[in-house]
Amino acid sequence: PIHQKEYLVNGEMRTWNGAMHTVLSPVYIKTANGLEQKVVGSYPLATEVEALEALEAAVKAYNHGRGEWPTMTIPERIACLEKFTNMMTEKKKEIVNLLMWEIGKSYADSVKEFDRTVQYNYDTIDALKDLDRNHSRFVIEQGIIGQIRRAPLGVVLCMGPFNYPLNETFATLIPALIMGNTVLFKPPKHGTLLHYPLLEAFRQCFPKGVVNTVYGRGNTIVGPMIATGNINVLTLIGSSKVADKLKKSHPKSNRLKAVLGLDAKNLAIILDNADIEATVKECILGTLSFNGQRCTALKMIFVHNKVKDVFIKRFSEEVSKLKIGMPWEKGVQITPLPEPQKPAYIKECIEDAVSQGAKVMNEGGGLTNQSFVFPAVLYPVKKGMKLYTEEQFGPVIPIASFDDIEEPIQYMIESEHGQQLSIFGTDPTQIAKLIDPLVNQVCRVNINAQCQRGPDTFPFAGRKDSGENTLSVTDALRAFSIRTMVATKQTEENKA
Ligand code: G3H
Repeated sequence: PIHQKEYLVNGEMRTWNGAMHTVLSPVYIKTANGLEQKVVGSYPLATEVEALEALEAAVKAYNHGRGEWPTMTIPERIACLEKFTNMMTEKKKEIVNLLMWEIGKSYADSVKEFDRTVQYNYDTIDALKDLDRNHSRFVIEQGIIGQIRRAPLGVVLCMGPFNYPLNETFATLIPALIMGNTVLFKPPKHGTLLHYPLLEAFRQCFPKGVVNTVYGRGNTIVGPMIATGNINVLTLIGSSKVADKLKKSHPKSNRLKAVLGLDAKNLAIILDNADIEATVKECILGTLSFNGQRCTALKMIFVHNKVKDVFIKRFSEEVSKLKIGMPWEKGVQITPLPEPQKPAYIKECIEDAVSQGAKVMNEGGGLTNQSFVFPAVLYPVKKGMKLYTEEQFGPVIPIASFDDIEEPIQYMIESEHGQQLSIFGTDPTQIAKLIDPLVNQVCRVNINAQCQRGPDTFPFAGRKDSGENTLSVTDALRAFSIRTMVATKQTEENKA
């Protein structure tokens, strides 16, 4: 096991002597006492004192934009990120291994998450070179010469999610850093230890105080940091309730920028002319990749009554064929769930739907063993059932059917969420007509394809409770910076 005592503050690797959080794997192993969850290790449970020390270091390193890091040239900052990315690449094996043990992600998906993150760093470097023509652009209007510059925002508190603890954390951390901000980095509760192999690289590659790590319980350490008013940007990929609460704890909330990726309940609409086999294939990926624990997962399916029977039959058959197993097993699709309360919650959702008339449509759907839950397909799911509105974030798929396309459109309008949706059908004119009303409800409409964040160069955002500001390689660089002007009156001398 990895018992991590070190944490990085003000460029120093400090040693923690206080309480530790034990990290239990969702994977059970044989022990002398029978089957038990493997202990992956432990990490510090910092208190408010350490959190505020880390914040002070970040504030000092930023120094109102006059610190070493914010005043570095872009090529100098890029060199730091390149060095970091090289060091990170050497840690691939260790990090992939920890992704499997800490959050139960399959080997194939863990490798994908790692490689995608390295690529994200390189894409960010490329995008930065092009941004606003290298940060300094001249415009001439009405006798004024304007130079547009791009400046950092200050201190960024960065919190990633457990389902993409590396990739989605870095999707905010890296653009925040490269734009010249200083950062407080709190890894997710499940998925902290996998960042440990990178701690030394952070220390070596960035000036002191630029990256500061804070470990522990969010409700002990995050609130007090925000309450100081010294955090300029809050970035969270997680729940909208938590984001709301944190935003409110800032003494001047108008001074806090939020870059947020939040709850979603993405919908698949299957039209009566859809290619059923292709749709089933995409919906399996959309609903159950990483056990449905993706913000972009399809979390509700509306299928036209004309094709309802054939779709549900084929979809349920394919769900029943999914390979359940340990993260390192070849071809595994369903793996253990890292959130200890999740199996009970899924069971509760299924019981609630069944008690109101829905049926489990696939063999073995909902069966639970240790931290495994075999996916359940539920039909008909109706208003009033938990699964109709709640974001299940796990292996259970609610299906409803419709005659009139207005029904799924109304569902979207009434929803608290607005991230993405998928439409399946073979009539391009019909689909084109649907896009207009739906594009006003979500930030991405996928045609004959599952919902997903990638390619990472596509803007990624959410309406309503699903997010604030836009991520993606280039949009994130914009989100973590501000354009400022130097405006000079034109004279005969400076005209040339
Ligand atoms: O969990 C939320 C992620 O943004 C999903 O990313 O669509 O690449 O799986 P993904």
